[in-house]
Amino acid sequence: MTIDLRSDTVTRPTPGMLDAMFHACVGDDVFGEDPTVSALEHKLAAMFGKEAGLYCASGTMSNQIAVKTHTQPGDEIIIHQLAHVYYYEGGGIMMNSGASVCLLEGNRGRITPQDVLDHINPDDVHRPPTVMVEVENTVNKGGGAVYNNDDLVAISEICREHNLKFHLDGARIFNALTVTGQTPLQCGKMFDSISICLSKGLGAPVGSVLLGSQTFINKGRRVRKIFGGGMRQAGYLAAAGIYALDHHIQRLADDHKKAKQLSQCLANLSWVEEVQDCLTNIVLFRVKAPLLAIPVVAQLEQRGIKCIDFDKRTIRFVTHLDFTDDMLTETLTILKNFEPVM
Ligand SMILES: Cc1ncc(COP(=O)(O)O)c(C=O)c1O
Repeated sequence: MTIDLRSDTVTRPTPGMLDAMFHACVGDDVFGEDPTVSALEHKLAAMFGKEAGLYCASGTMSNQIAVKTHTQPGDEIIIHQLAHVYYYEGGGIMMNSGASVCLLEGNRGRITPQDVLDHINPDDVHRPPTVMVEVENTVNKGGGAVYNNDDLVAISEICREHNLKFHLDGARIFNALTVTGQTPLQCGKMFDSISICLSKGLGAPVGSVLLGSQTFINKGRRVRKIFGGGMRQAGYLAAAGIYALDHHIQRLADDHKKAKQLSQCLANLSWVEEVQDCLTNIVLFRVKAPLLAIPVVAQLEQRGIKCIDFDKRTIRFVTHLDFTDDMLTETLTILKNFEPVM
């Protein structure tokens, strides 16, 4: 059996999800006539207390639409240097929006209210106007780190006082809410826009939804069309998203529990230098020098565990819907009997 821990994006639709997709009622969504897409957009907007939603092909697309809609060329965005929107979206902020970035450091990909305050540019012709702040929750590069609610509230207040748009890359927001116990409505209040992925821990094959005010989403819809993201009978895909929201949120705690068990096992292995405190479904661990991540990943794959190298000595495991109890047992056995070589 191959155990795929590379990402929570590797899941396949469950029989129930496929059934929902198969029976979806569809129409041409570019004409605004796909009832299932509209139902998904409304469902998520209502959950997070936002006026409207926009179904997008991917999390990258919904983040990039948010940046394009909130900014003008030459404006500046405050983000963490490891934020997906900057680090993993191919330079899209510059290419699509011509915006400038102010890159902050911060523990496991999280920025602090004070840092945000300290980096808002003064009204000075020499400096790009700061117009937007973006945070990611949970933080992918930060090993599934979760923001403290008080910090988010404080950043949100700073944004309001300084007339800055506040965007959440909530690719894994339900993982974060599972940990903090905050409701989607409480979360929604803090942000001007939110991107939520259905194709990560929630297990849908495709899709993200961008949320915000009606005016913001109307503008975003135009941007989505320009980006080539206007889809036709997309309800077949949106049905998977609705199914995921109805059936796959509660079970995220199980992914977190399994990730914790993996991290506890890794912490006891002689070849592992350090395991990051595991909070959600992502486990990051560093191999001891002189071992390197890439050959260790290759050797793990030979034993049946797929994972990815995150930097020179760091490896990432991600638990998900298709990582069963039996697979967990098997993974723990493999790990305990594994001794990597250079
Ligand atoms: C935090 C975060 N944001 C956005 C994305 C982009 O999602 P997509 O792969 O659907 O473009 C990812 C993908 O892994 C992610 O981890």
